[in-house]
Amino acid sequence: MTVRELQDEILKLKKETNTAILAHCYQAREIVEIADFTGDSYKLSVDAKGISAENILFCGVHFMAETAKMLSPQKHVYLANKNAGCPMAEQMDAEMISAVKAADPERTVVAYINTTASLKTVCDVCVTSSSALKIVKALDNDKILFIPDCNLGDYVKKNCPEKDIKLLNGGCPTHAKVTEKEVLDAKAEHPEALFLVHPECQPKVTALADYVGSTTGIMDFAKKSDAKEFIIGTETSIAEHLQYECPDKKFYPVTKDIVCHNMKITTLPDIYNSLLAISGKGGEAFEILMDDDLITKARRCIDEMIRLGG
Ligand code: 13P
Ligand code: SF4
Repeated sequence: MTVRELQDEILKLKKETNTAILAHCYQAREIVEIADFTGDSYKLSVDAKGISAENILFCGVHFMAETAKMLSPQKHVYLANKNAGCPMAEQMDAEMISAVKAADPERTVVAYINTTASLKTVCDVCVTSSSALKIVKALDNDKILFIPDCNLGDYVKKNCPEKDIKLLNGGCPTHAKVTEKEVLDAKAEHPEALFLVHPECQPKVTALADYVGSTTGIMDFAKKSDAKEFIIGTETSIAEHLQYECPDKKFYPVTKDIVCHNMKITTLPDIYNSLLAISGKGGEAFEILMDDDLITKARRCIDEMIRLGG
């Protein structure tokens, strides 16, 4: 079967099963093409809240599907590949953060959305990379504990000096490994290019940027910019999508190694198999199942994120 034929089968099954496909923009082009909703974590959270289809099939990582389930608890939510996890989301747990809170109880706990539902139950508000700064600035409390990403936290801290922000030592292995030298080498190779970077990169890398923002923020900036060349400091798929959508401009990934293997694990056959299982014709689907108590407790900080970030 060709890619186009498989995509057509998926589109048929999607309609037959009344399923909406949500794909994070780190997914491959052929997946983005058959999705009903694409975007960064913030946009997909807002989209998940308003979906009318009976089923949601999420192409992304586990915490994103979990968030969709919390926002649409009456729907069946599936993760297209059950092994797609985010290593950062596993770095801290509820027990550890409860102990940190007990030692320093005056702080509002701000959790990057890349956390488990169980950890969210002990946090006050979630943020995504596109909403973090706006939400931290909007909080009444000046004392903040920001978890788990210390690079995103450092970016917020520098741009919000009026708040006392405590950070812990977590982060994204994919973004954190980009070095200052790799950026300088890419700039030397493409001297006319603007450098656009995700705030999960190290501070000395974001310090070299012409623009710092979420995946959607980077894409919007590049599309609107009059510049013709860009070095992209986030997952390589963003440079690929931009090259496809803006053929008159040039996009260079900052290094070829900036690949999130968890995001890339999902394939069209995974989507096809999930939809087959949803239709009852075989295949295998991984449904996100959460008890009501967990949903109620974890959802509070996601609702607060949407209220403050909208
Ligand atoms: P966005 O908030 O830009 O979607 O980022 C999600 C993510 O996992 C980045 O690594
Ligand atoms: Fe997690 Fe980093 Fe992959 Fe994003 S890029 S899903 S933060 S490991």
